[in-house]
Amino acid sequence: MKTIIEPFRIKSVEPLRYTTREQRERLLEEAGFNLFQIPASDILIDLLTDSGTSAMSTAQWAAMMRGDESYAGSESFYRMERVARDLTGFRHIIPTHQGRAAERILFQVMCRPGHVVPSNTHFDTTRANIEFTGARAVDLPLPEAADTQLRLDFKGNMDVEALEQMIRTEGAARIPLIMITVTNNSGGGQPVSMANIELAKQVASRHGIPLYLDACRGRASAFKCPSTAANPARRGNPVWNLACSMAKPREAATPAE
Ligand SMILES: Cc1ncc(COP(=O)(O)O)c(C=O)c1O
Repeated sequence: MKTIIEPFRIKSVEPLRYTTREQRERLLEEAGFNLFQIPASDILIDLLTDSGTSAMSTAQWAAMMRGDESYAGSESFYRMERVARDLTGFRHIIPTHQGRAAERILFQVMCRPGHVVPSNTHFDTTRANIEFTGARAVDLPLPEAADTQLRLDFKGNMDVEALEQMIRTEGAARIPLIMITVTNNSGGGQPVSMANIELAKQVASRHGIPLYLDACRGRASAFKCPSTAANPARRGNPVWNLACSMAKPREAATPAE
């Protein structure tokens, strides 16, 4: 059934403070134009991150009462680990508070000056974390993605031919990993197809390069995939299944929402 309202009730509200243009200009100047220096109480719409900023469901609030706060060996961690392993098939699960924290750990370990990291399009925090190590972050979106009027099912795909070309030019030894961002957020929040992920994986394997997913919006990509009755991955719980098939053949991923 098509609905014109959001199918949930918001149970609590939090007041926001409006500022005038003059106040905002002063705040920006006082902060040296560094948004991290502005008190959150002066922000009306906060776009620094959307991770963990939305209202929680009744089930999530209820689960807080089951939270095991033990400093080590917490049952809450094991529960999360079981679900994450089941979803991704990965052996090692490292919880981080945000996507950018996971990126920081990953690229500090994987990258050094002279390295190049290709992606369909790097998210801004991903690019910053790569460049902080002295490596180069390169976007390889589909050429058609630049046409804002064009409608494509998977406009967030990676240009796999350009990837091949880049590996030939740069040499595989300088590419510590290939990253695919699902959904392609900096490319307009566009979804990525399983076929594209598989193709990129084939190229990566041929050159001995690991393929990583930036799965920060993996669930959204799974939602946006056009429904095809013929696609077995969409039977049962379609989003879960699709997210599983997206993650399972990959080497690793930064956190999914
Ligand atoms: C594709 C992608 N990667 C990384 C991030 C960074 O995640 P966080 O804001 O949790 O640090 C985001 C956040 O929206 C994202 O959309």
